[in-house]
Amino acid sequence: MKEELLELLKSARIEIEGVIKEADLLNLKSKLLGKNSKLSELMTELKNMSLEDKRAFGKMINDLKYDIEQMIQAKFNKLNAKDFLEFDNTLPVELGNGSLHPVTIASKEVTDILKQMGFIILDGPEMESEYYNFEALNIPKNHPARDMQDTFYLDNGLILRTHTSTNQVHGMEKYGAPIRLCAPGRCFRNENIDHSHDNTFFQIEGMVIDKDVSIGNLIYVMKELLNHVFKKEVDVRLRPGFFPFVEPGFELDCSCLICNGKGCPTCKNTGWIELCPCGMIHPNVLKMSGINPDEYNGFAFGMGLTRLAMMKNKINDIRVLNSGDLRKLERFNIK
Ligand code: DAH
Repeated sequence: MKEELLELLKSARIEIEGVIKEADLLNLKSKLLGKNSKLSELMTELKNMSLEDKRAFGKMINDLKYDIEQMIQAKFNKLNAKDFLEFDNTLPVELGNGSLHPVTIASKEVTDILKQMGFIILDGPEMESEYYNFEALNIPKNHPARDMQDTFYLDNGLILRTHTSTNQVHGMEKYGAPIRLCAPGRCFRNENIDHSHDNTFFQIEGMVIDKDVSIGNLIYVMKELLNHVFKKEVDVRLRPGFFPFVEPGFELDCSCLICNGKGCPTCKNTGWIELCPCGMIHPNVLKMSGINPDEYNGFAFGMGLTRLAMMKNKINDIRVLNSGDLRKLERFNIK
């Protein structure tokens, strides 16, 4: 039996060395060590042997099994290393042309226009205290307006901001009055997701504080902005709207560019899209951030950048924008 075992080891070594592919090595492993292998056949013979032989040969068979297992493992390592070394990272890869995301483009277009009107661009944190997201914007604790903006409350006591209006407060605290600022950014709400709602979306905030600012100034800036963004005279309408940080507050709607005002799921069949709530800054908001409301006043607006990108590119499902699905995003082919 001893010769047989030595012979087995020798032939196993030759076979293992000859293997080139990992799959073949797996097959060989079951041939050498599996149920129908020569090795297990030899093991069954043990039971007919004397106790002494059983001990001696049993040990030899186990050693052989161990040796073969070691050889197979070493070969596995070698094959894997070879695969790695043979990977040629200089080979050309087929990649399509990239483009900016529709929301990025919309954001850039709006900020470009606002910059020309003398607005500075601010960036602010996405994780905020309740003070910046609510209190400082005249939305005290337990105010019903908080219900409309349910968000994600974090373990560290902060929340994910529900709007970019937080940057009105940061801007006033940092720069005081007079000021013209805009602040594009990502916002979050605890929403039921459907074709026009997502839990993550983009807005751009605008704020002007100066002496004797009028509603006429607000309407002029909004209309200029939208005409430039849509590259044509767009129809807009103002409705009264309630936001605790402005008084009076408005909803500025523009005619739906997806259906040209005829009515579609995106505009909930009204023909109008709520694009830009706005209003005259509430004196409490100015006061809380250290600006004297008897001396200064102003207006603010918050435009949905995600919604704007949808309108401009006739995207009727908001979920496409955050999906990261390049096949869908590529359809817009924006350069
Ligand atoms: N922050 C508000 C929201 O997300 C939108 C808004 C309304 C912003 C009126 C404003 C404003 O600046 O004046 O619902």
